[in-house]
Amino acid sequence: MIAIGSDHGGYALKQEILKHLEARQTEYKDFGCYDEASCDYPVYAKAVAKAILDGECELGILICGTGIGISITANKVAGIRAALCTDCFSAEATRQHNNANILCLGGRVVGSGLACKIVDTFLDTPFSNDERHIRRIHLIEE
Ligand code: RB5
Repeated sequence: MIAIGSDHGGYALKQEILKHLEARQTEYKDFGCYDEASCDYPVYAKAVAKAILDGECELGILICGTGIGISITANKVAGIRAALCTDCFSAEATRQHNNANILCLGGRVVGSGLACKIVDTFLDTPFSNDERHIRRIHLIEE
């Protein structure tokens, strides 16, 4: 199960990503927002982060206008490793090296075609489980 959330700045891209998740038969839970009315991105970042820490969802996708506010917020939650990606190389590397559990996207930055490729790369790339990467991830939390 994938947790997904956005603010108004990410709402339009989220609608495209939801269609893409349905096409690839990936189950998701949408934590809002549910329209383009102005709203506060920390609310959705915290809801998606909680769903992952609770074990309700394995990975998350967060979208705001730039992807920055929502990633700053998510990364303040212990145990969350949120990666703001604008390319597939970074999306692959952050799963392999950082075991990132949330992908952040900027709805005003990336187009929907690229965003869906980034989503595929993020969701389909496993953590490497390399000792050096495990050690570095533990150091983040100290
Ligand atoms: C909303 O206008 C915008 O500030 C928000 O979506 C995001 O880009 C913040 O980082």
